[in-house]
Amino acid sequence: MSSLNIPNHVGIILDGNGRWATKRGLSRSEGHLAGFNMLKKVSPYILNMGVKQLSVFAFSTENFKRSKEEVGFLMNLFIKKFTEESSYFNEKNIKVVFSGIRNKPLPSNVIKAMNSLEENTKNNTNGILNICINYGGRSEIIDATKKIVNDVVDKKLDINSLDEEIYSKYLYQKLDPIDLLIRTSGENRISNFMLWQLAYSEFYFTDTYFPDFNEEEFDKAIIEYNKRDRRFGGINYEKKNN
Ligand code: IPE
Ligand code: IPE
Ligand code: MG
Repeated sequence: MSSLNIPNHVGIILDGNGRWATKRGLSRSEGHLAGFNMLKKVSPYILNMGVKQLSVFAFSTENFKRSKEEVGFLMNLFIKKFTEESSYFNEKNIKVVFSGIRNKPLPSNVIKAMNSLEENTKNNTNGILNICINYGGRSEIIDATKKIVNDVVDKKLDINSLDEEIYSKYLYQKLDPIDLLIRTSGENRISNFMLWQLAYSEFYFTDTYFPDFNEEEFDKAIIEYNKRDRRFGGINYEKKNN
């Protein structure tokens, strides 16, 4: 893998936990647990490879529509894992941050666990793991816009100076554009994930369910990414003439 071009920011819509479990005669909850365990295993691998930022979609604003039982299981899983795994992320030197609305209906003890994991890992330097919880891409843009309007009203920002770079500083986290977006489980859609950051991303869709998305599966995505010709609206004349 050494000669490959490694993306700076990777996004993963980690989907298929439920179907992975159902296929095995297990409960959906067991699928979510398996999904978290895979995230724990594969995220240091990805960040060690040279990816600097890894954003993962773990719970959307829309996922609150699910059964009380499933939402409850996920909230308890978040509390337990964000509390228990802080030493693991420190050992791996990974800085964990969260994106999303830190407010109702997200339970306060989940928010507390998120805040403390962020605080406990804030000085780590081997890459950023951005976990999106109670997250929606449109909400992120609206929340940024509200902050911008407030700053304009407070005369902290001149509206005429607003450009893409300044706008992006008002998003939940100061992250770069996503270079490679991966979605597992065979669904070919964005489901309201990081709309701003995905403007020029390469998309990689795989049928593999997230609990099976291991190091080898990630390597396949990187190999595919290296076959893409990223033009950003321009023309790669060198390639065209070949
Ligand atoms: C992804 O797996 C995790 C969350 C959305 C919380 P799903 O729970 O969506 O699994 P499927 O898509 O039903 O298989
Ligand atoms: C998207 O998956 C959200 C997360 C992975 C957290 P969903 O399973 O909720 O998306 P849809 O409903 O298939 O679009
Ligand atoms: Mg799903």
